[in-house]
Amino acid sequence: MSEKLHTVPAEWAKRAHVDAAKYDADYARSIQDPDGFWGEVGKRVDWITPYTKVKNVSYAPGNVSIKWYEDGALNVSANCVDRHLATRGDQVAILWEGDDPKDSKAITYRELHEQVGRLANALKSRGVKKGDRVTIYLPMIPEAAYAMLACARIGAVHSIVFGGFSPDSLAGRIEGCESKVVITADEGLRGGRKVPLKANTDAAIAKAGGVDTVFVVTRTGADVAWTEGRDVRYEDAVAEASPDCEPEAMNAEDPLFILYTSGSTGKPKGVLHTTGGYLVYASYTHQLIFDYHDGDIYWCTADVGWVTGHSYIVYGPLANGATTLMFEGVPNYPSSSRFWEVVDKHKVNIFYTAPTAIRALMSGGEEAVKKTSRESLRLLGSVGEPINPEAWEWYYRVVGDSRCPIVDTWWQTETGGILITPLPGATDLKPGSATKPFFGVRPELVDAEGKVLEGAAEGNLVIADSWPGQMRTVYGDHKRFEETYFSTYPNKYFTGDGCRRDADGYYWITGRVDDVINVSGHRMGTAEVESSLVAHEKVSEAAVVGYPHDIKGQGIYAYVTLMSGVEGDDALRKELIAWVRKDIGPIAAPDLIQFAPGLPKTRSGKIMRRILRKIAEDEFGALGDTSTLADPGVVDDLIDHRQNKK
Ligand code: WTA
Repeated sequence: MSEKLHTVPAEWAKRAHVDAAKYDADYARSIQDPDGFWGEVGKRVDWITPYTKVKNVSYAPGNVSIKWYEDGALNVSANCVDRHLATRGDQVAILWEGDDPKDSKAITYRELHEQVGRLANALKSRGVKKGDRVTIYLPMIPEAAYAMLACARIGAVHSIVFGGFSPDSLAGRIEGCESKVVITADEGLRGGRKVPLKANTDAAIAKAGGVDTVFVVTRTGADVAWTEGRDVRYEDAVAEASPDCEPEAMNAEDPLFILYTSGSTGKPKGVLHTTGGYLVYASYTHQLIFDYHDGDIYWCTADVGWVTGHSYIVYGPLANGATTLMFEGVPNYPSSSRFWEVVDKHKVNIFYTAPTAIRALMSGGEEAVKKTSRESLRLLGSVGEPINPEAWEWYYRVVGDSRCPIVDTWWQTETGGILITPLPGATDLKPGSATKPFFGVRPELVDAEGKVLEGAAEGNLVIADSWPGQMRTVYGDHKRFEETYFSTYPNKYFTGDGCRRDADGYYWITGRVDDVINVSGHRMGTAEVESSLVAHEKVSEAAVVGYPHDIKGQGIYAYVTLMSGVEGDDALRKELIAWVRKDIGPIAAPDLIQFAPGLPKTRSGKIMRRILRKIAEDEFGALGDTSTLADPGVVDDLIDHRQNKK
């Protein structure tokens, strides 16, 4: 572990919203008096009806209930758009950079207001009402932000599905929240390649049913199939609609969005976030952690299909009246200088990306970075998976010219916003550590029995109390919410992550301790990949684990037992990889497949994943206790045929 310390530069301590002394004082207060602390912070957004209550939370087993600002009313789109019109109507809200470097445009707050109002009215004209669910399946174009904000304006609940997901995955998510309306585009464009979003949507709806309206944005102008009466050309609908749409007064605890995410068991779950606490937390963390000041150009490279795009491309930055850059493309198109060319073109000051992108660019060498200026950059950020110290130092030295602090931000879809992170004017940095808790966040490390570990220790990461951005439930399944997050360690929120705390109180996330794999910063449940594999006619059984991957962080390693009489070869490997790609999406495709005549099981028939993980890591010297195996012989065969020999 690297223990190199990068201390806070003096000019940062002076200029930043928070310095070390303020961090200590405010953190202490936020823990001692959450009502007082968050009662004040909550005023940063505009309320239609001010709240009188702040926190009302129970983590008690069987009775988990999370409420913040529960008697207040507000509208998220009014906060992200309307309230800026008087002071910054002509300021750029969204700076859009297309896949093709020749494509870009700037949308001011005034234009954003008009676009959101028109789409909100178009949704209404198709019968969308407060509480209805709308599925958004769009590429990274400004319409994605308009769609989110238009839903928020009328109180509809959006569910964004990442454009890389398959028709089947989309169908499951449409069905899961019973959306009647889908907003999509004819095609997406990424790295010069087209993504058939409308065709995927048609296939999904054929499977899911219940959809009566599909808004189709014209992105490439491709010829797409058209269902009269159901399909609506987005451009026509907004042109016909009025730009004036009164924002709906929403209770703080009314739902804002659902976002499906993978867990260790079963199908992806619909993480539900509500209105007031989420917005307060997203905007507050965005301002303090990225030290956003008026006039800064801020760029988060995530996709709006993930939570990072929700909180830190759209809601947090726009609530703060920021200029947020939205990028349609990929880091290596047309060349691996693209990120830095975009930074120079738009004079980006704050840049937030994922370790997997950094490692990929690192492998391309320094030249592609060094030939750009990057002098506008002031702060760098990282999210999605642990950043290895080598990648951290490269990011710091090569991208940031040893001038820009790096905020390594730990959080989850469930947390709504960042929980463990440096504040750039307050926290000395240790490469590879997400450092310290944000205000109001009470991390604890526990052992397998739930005993709280003090001081320097390593264990499972739990959060002992609520914060305003926390998810409220699994959509339609509160029992699953309680079981997943509050039953392992009663009265605590269980994150699913392992973590070490050092003698300075710094937190080092070590990765998932459950059956979730983090592939290129994206979560994938092993159970999902397994059920896809066993749905193939030649597969009898499958077990999936993660293994260390140089670029992706973790790769997907699948052990597959074939139906008797079927011979496993490279052609079948390719077939199975293509099968999972098509079934779930490219991010779920196994990197390695090992055909295994048998899987290691206990006498009661439970697959021993610990052993499979060790073999996939090529660490079978440390298999641990194998005495409970029903047939120890299978392990030798697995080791002999492993696909990941170092
Ligand atoms: C991992 C993404 C280490 C972690 C915002 C978590 C991280 C999961 C970090 C959530 C980080 C995220 N350091 N690990 N800075 N950020 N993770 O829901 O395992 O897509 O539980 O949310 O990503 O992934 P999710």
